[in-house]
Order: sequence, then C-alpha cells, then structure tokens
Amino acid sequence: MAMTEQILILDFGAQYTQVIARRVRECGVYSSIVHFDLTAADIAALKPKGLILSGGPASVYAPKAPCPDRAIFELGIPILGICYGVQLMASMLGGNVARGLKREYGKGALHVTDPGSALFALLPDSLQVWNSHGDKLIAPPAGFKAIASSDNSEFAAIEDRDRRFFGLQFHPEVAHTPKGREIISNFVHGVCGCGKDWTMRHYIEQAVEQIKAEVGRERVVLGLSGGVDSSVAAALLHKAIGGQLTCIFVNNGLLRGREPQVVREVFGRHFRLKLQYEDASALFLRRLKGVTDPERKRKIIGKTFIEVFQAASQRAGAAKFLGQGTLYPDVIESVPIAGNPAALIKSHHNVGGLPRKMKFKLIEPLRCLFKDEVRQLGLELGLPHEIVMRQPFPGPGLAVRILGEVTPKRCEILRAADSIVVEEMKASGWYYKIWQSFAVLLPVRSVGVMGDERTYDFTVAIRAVESQDGMTADWVKLPYELLETLSRRITNEVKGVNRVCFDISSKPPATIEWE
Ligand code: XMP
Repeated sequence: MAMTEQILILDFGAQYTQVIARRVRECGVYSSIVHFDLTAADIAALKPKGLILSGGPASVYAPKAPCPDRAIFELGIPILGICYGVQLMASMLGGNVARGLKREYGKGALHVTDPGSALFALLPDSLQVWNSHGDKLIAPPAGFKAIASSDNSEFAAIEDRDRRFFGLQFHPEVAHTPKGREIISNFVHGVCGCGKDWTMRHYIEQAVEQIKAEVGRERVVLGLSGGVDSSVAAALLHKAIGGQLTCIFVNNGLLRGREPQVVREVFGRHFRLKLQYEDASALFLRRLKGVTDPERKRKIIGKTFIEVFQAASQRAGAAKFLGQGTLYPDVIESVPIAGNPAALIKSHHNVGGLPRKMKFKLIEPLRCLFKDEVRQLGLELGLPHEIVMRQPFPGPGLAVRILGEVTPKRCEILRAADSIVVEEMKASGWYYKIWQSFAVLLPVRSVGVMGDERTYDFTVAIRAVESQDGMTADWVKLPYELLETLSRRITNEVKGVNRVCFDISSKPPATIEWE
C-alpha cells in the first residue's frame, strides 16, 4: 500500500505520546510511533516528512537518559521536540539545559515573540498552554532563537529556521493547550508540507494488512459482548481474515433486552461472520443464587465467564490468537522507561476480561485508538449506528443494577424497565448526548394503589449521567416531561414495580453503577 506521507514520533516514554499521534491523525496525516533509539538510517528508510520527539519522564542529566541516534539531526527532516524532546535536542546540539530544581506544572501563559514563525502562523500573540517539566532550557544551541516566552522561561519555544528544527517546553497535544492542535497542524502542514489525505479508510487498509501479516493462516477467537469496542474489533478482524475469525458471544443471563437478538442479527446475518452463541444464562443465574455482596457477584461472573469462554473456544477449534478490543486508554504499559507515568494509569474495570495467562497470543487492532476514533472506524466498517454509538454497559451486566439477590424474575423486571428507559431516551434525543442512562432495581418494596387494589411492589431508580471517561460524572438534568413519561410507562407497563425514583447523585461521592 502506498503510504507516502508520514510523521514519525520518537517515543521517550511520555504519558502523552499516543495523544500526539492522535493529534497528527486529526490533521489528516498518517503518524506512527517508534522507539526512541531507532537508528537514523532506519528512520530515513521510512521516509518521514517530519519527526516529533515526544516528552518523557527522564531528566536529560539522568545516567540512563533515553537518547536518540545523533545522526537524526543530519537527515534534513524537520524536527519538533516537545518538553523532554526539546531539552534533549538542545543538550545534544550544544545548548544549555538547567537541571530542574522546581517542576513547572499546570496552566501557563505563552507570549509569541516571533509571530513570523511558521509554528505560530495565524495564531494570537498570547496563548494558554500546559506545562509539565522539571529541567529548563536556559540557552538554546547555535542557530536557534526564541520564538515564544512564558513567565517562567525566555525560551518556552525555540526555532532553527534554516534546519527547520523547533522545540516547545509545553505540551501542545493536550486539551489544556487549547490552540495546541493549530500548532501541531502548523508543524505538519506548514513546516513539513504534508497534505491532508489520511483518513479512517487508510487506517482500515493498513490495519487489514497488519492483521493479515500477523495472523497468517492461523485462527482467531474473540469474545463479542455487543459493546462498541469488541464489535468494532470483530468487524475489523473479519474484514482482514474472514472465516479465520470465530466470535464467541456469551449470554450470561444479565444482558439488556433484545441484546442476543441484536448481536445475532448484526453479526450473524448482516456481517455473516462465524458467530458462536453460548447461552450460559442458567449457569450464571444458578451460581448467583442467594448472593447479595457486590464484589462476590463480580467475582462469580468473572470466573464463570472465563470458564464458559474457555470451553467455547475449545469447541471453536484450535485458535492461536485471541482478538480483543483494547483501546489506548486501556493500555497501561508504554515504552518501559523507569518512572514512566503512563505505567501508573490503571485500566478502570476489567471484570469480564480474560486472564493474560490464557494460552492465546493477543491481537488488539484498536490499541492505539481513542473511543471516538473507534466509533468512526466502526461506522466506516458498516456497523449500525445503534451499536457504534451505544452507551457503555458493564461486564457484569444487570447483576450490578439489581441490588441484592439476582433472580430470573428480577432480571425480567429490570430488563423491561430498562428497555423503556432506552426507548424514551432515544425518542427524546437524550440517549446519544450523554454518557449513560439506565434503570436500577432496588430491593425495596413499598405500598401503592393500582385501581382499587393495594400493591406492595419494587422501586426502580433511573440513573442518567454525563461523563468524559467514567472516572467522574454528574447527573443529567433531564426534563420533567421526560421523567414523567418514564415514570408513567414503567409503573404502567412493568409488572412488579409501583414506584420510580430519579438518582441525583454525582460521582464522587456516588459511583455510576449502584454496585
Ligand atoms: P462506576 O460504577 O465505577 O462506573 O462509577 C464507571 C464506569 O465503568 C462501568 N463499570 C464497569 N464496566 N465492568 C465493566 O466492564 C465492571 O465491573 C464495571 N463496573 C462499572 C460503568 O458502567 C461506568 O461506565
């Protein structure tokens, strides 16, 4: 495949390296991340239009500070050093970097002192930026001059116009640098001369080739949950290797209404991929009988899932690979450099996941993408909007939304109530605007009246939250009319429920799920 223009990112172990790659992709330019010590000859062979030296946790004075091949500065390719990257460039080219006594961290103001610099083209003179560095550049190397300053530094941004080398002490890639995208765009388009021809289509072509090369003639199994990530991973793997992929869909009896039908409809009938449907609902519900402790529920579900999946994968035939829809935010290890803060980022929940010790080799075609990119990819692969845009659903399913004991009857009640919530949220346009909305079944019974009869039934709570990543959340101020419809429909249509409450708790102190 002709992949003419690319920006290469040398990774020095920064927490944000993947974010840099993503920003470059957003500019419509292909980018790839390589280990910092790739030789200049290997780099030249890849014919990049520009290099970006990422940040990193080390100090340039540390004994084993990661260092690139010195010859990269002789390749005649534009280079942008970010944070550690600029300090490295400065110290290797004869500038002076002061060992940081005090870390500069957080928001700062940047004053562009040379508006003629291509890096700041069409940008205002004063910009808000995000800093996170210990060492500080105090004298740039020969040939460089300051193009921007900050309150803390005369050399917040530097440039060697002839060699087309640039350095930024701050992080242009993070959201806290609001004009950072434009700075990166100026580098890739204005300085490196890249066009804007890289799209999700290209990503698919490239991923398909990589998957084919990696898998060869072997077989892959994938646990399909019906969620966005595993669905997109399944569609992408299927495009690459067709019948060599078997998707295993486990019905744990704790799924949303119509979930098994939708998955079979979309993947079995529409995509015609090999779908192995495992109805293990009776087993899961039997093991959950009498269990009320949330953590025990999770453990039982996680363990049972592994057992069922293992047995199912054996039945699927000998597979060498296990496909997984791991996304970048789930990836905890990056370049293994001591002190790499990326290593500290924990994946949030992994119940329902498979243990790493299973005998498979992992294949994770989404591991450098962010959620919104995965959604875009899913649409491009022809997955329906309903699947690609759906809200997150926890691995342990309805079990963490049925407080107290999980019984088949309670699952049925909650499924009916939840289907009404989903239906009305979609009809009113709220479903796709927010992070999650669902029903929770409380083990509380209260007195009510229905016609002339006295009832003594359960309570349903409605939870609707806004969130960026699930780590913090706020409750959504849904219109009263919508709440009224939800309450009326649930109490009228769901037998066993006579009261509906609306959860007005944020996270923290509450969590999104009730268990
Ligand atoms: P909490 O309840 O911790 O949820 O505020 C944060 C986000 O994570 C989802 N969640 C889970 N996902 N397995 C999962 O795969 C789990 O055990 C689990 N528990 C919570 C939850 O739906 C929300 O989006």
